[in-house]
Amino acid sequence: MTLEIWTEKYRPDSLDEIIGQDEIVDRLQAFVEQDSIPHLMFAGPAGTGKTTSAIALAKDVYGDEWKQNFM
Ligand SMILES: Nc1ncnc2c1ncn2[C@@H]1O[C@H](COP(=O)(O)OP(=O)(O)OP(=O)(O)O)[C@@H](O)[C@H]1O
Ligand SMILES: [Mg+2]
Repeated sequence: MTLEIWTEKYRPDSLDEIIGQDEIVDRLQAFVEQDSIPHLMFAGPAGTGKTTSAIALAKDVYGDEWKQNFM
């Protein structure tokens, strides 16, 4: 049995699945569509989706190769 913490298991995989934060999600999706990502800084209270958004962005841009392009 592999142990996986729920915050990772149930993280959204795509920007589509992020709840709320509509303006930010729209802006990130525009970067995906343009295939051009500027430097970004995610700021906000703990647990509001900063890490999740960064991973979802990487998955939407790189698909299965996201891990090779993510540090
Ligand atoms: N807007 C959101 N939509 C969907 N799930 C969310 C959202 N915000 C947070 N979550 C969920 O809450 C959990 C914590 O989110 P995340 O790790 O992205 O927070 P964080 O902003 O990076 O927090 P920290 O400042 O502690 O690093 C994750 O499991 C994530 O799936
Ligand atoms: Mg985080």
